[in-house]
Amino acid sequence: MSADSASDLKGLELARRLAAVDCPAFAHRRNSRAGASPDGPPPIVLARGRGHEVTDVDGRTYVDLVAGFGSLLLGHDHPAIRQAIAKQSTKLVQGMGDVYASDVKVEIMERIAALSAAAFDWPDAQVLLCQSGGDAVTAALKTATLATGRDTIIAFDGAYHGLGYAPLAACGFQAGFRAPFAEQLSKHILFAPYPGVRGATERHALDFVAQCLEQEKVAAVLVEPILGRGGCIVPPTNFLRQLAAQARASGALLIADEIWTGLGRTGTLVRSADEGAHADIVCFGKGLGGGLSLSACVAPAAIMGAWAQGGQVVHSSTHAGHPLSCATALATLETLEREQLVRRSREVGSRFVATLQRELTSLEAVTEIRGEGLLIGIELSSAALTQRLVGELREAGFLVITGGVAGDTLTLSPALTIEEAELNRFATTLSSLLHSAAAETD
Ligand SMILES: Cc1ncc(COP(=O)(O)O)c(C=O)c1O
Repeated sequence: MSADSASDLKGLELARRLAAVDCPAFAHRRNSRAGASPDGPPPIVLARGRGHEVTDVDGRTYVDLVAGFGSLLLGHDHPAIRQAIAKQSTKLVQGMGDVYASDVKVEIMERIAALSAAAFDWPDAQVLLCQSGGDAVTAALKTATLATGRDTIIAFDGAYHGLGYAPLAACGFQAGFRAPFAEQLSKHILFAPYPGVRGATERHALDFVAQCLEQEKVAAVLVEPILGRGGCIVPPTNFLRQLAAQARASGALLIADEIWTGLGRTGTLVRSADEGAHADIVCFGKGLGGGLSLSACVAPAAIMGAWAQGGQVVHSSTHAGHPLSCATALATLETLEREQLVRRSREVGSRFVATLQRELTSLEAVTEIRGEGLLIGIELSSAALTQRLVGELREAGFLVITGGVAGDTLTLSPALTIEEAELNRFATTLSSLLHSAAAETD
């Protein structure tokens, strides 16, 4: 591309404007990720999305294997979501939160309560609707503290729960995220090893948790059933079940952070329940709102009831239970069921992992291919190679992100509706890019 045509790009101009007003943290990160050099690829500024494709302001179209960081379970512009927004926006866009509920808020809370109670075999379930994933984790930590009267939380190395102060304190993903704020974060968090992260085994993890539970009065163990941002790391089959049993034996609660893994992403509606782990509190987010922001903290009434005992204590916000996102959440859950997308995610994901393994495992640069459903990680030999591949895949028309504590894992969380032909095309493209990279070093 000539310098003249590059300077005509709308994306370049918008990226310049963005850099002027954006918090520098993001510009810094974008630049290092894009390897932003004057002759690097022009920036992407997105303009439209349809199904599994996004188009940027300069008309380039990409296969979106990120899908709003996993939040677009139905892909971009799904008719059910479009219709829900259109219908609800003519009725009621903003409500009155927890003062006067809206009809759609009641409906979605019933749906979320029913699916959680069924998954965990709870006699009943009550819901605290929140906005972001981090907000739901905050609500879960508060719920555990109220219900147990204890402060200490066991969280995991490599886990990600959001960046507000409460979830950040429990975020083992990057110590650097916490470090500047350490004095303002809860001191009551103990980080246990997570199997598969930095060489830890299941035994390390369970022994560490057992020791903490013995020595401290622990309110809750907060766990991602599969590490999402931590690199799509799937723990051994019995890990969650044993963790739940350990927590229960010491009077601590198990909080399952299903924000990324839940609602079909990993081929089941509730991953921890499917693994036989009897959680006491569950958090949903990301895909719940179908692209709009909605999350939920759910627990049986016996636990959620703790909120009624402390006098004036609530967890709420101006947009909590926002009617538009409640409507899109209802449309999402209905569509998942009608189009059998949870099963599709499981089946398509397992064929895709098999294809990736067939195409890639002979390559030295590929350390591991793992995941469940359509949450898939491809761990490569270094973060530098992973970053390079993100750029080359982008040039080839595929958007992916990196993950893993070392940044060495290509992370895929496409729409559950994505066509398999696109996934196969991705596997072939990645294979050929990796072969070229290998040929360079030979
Ligand atoms: C497992 C998990 N929990 C919590 C969060 C935080 O969600 P949000 O970014 O909506 O605050 C994320 C986000 O990636 C996540 O993956």
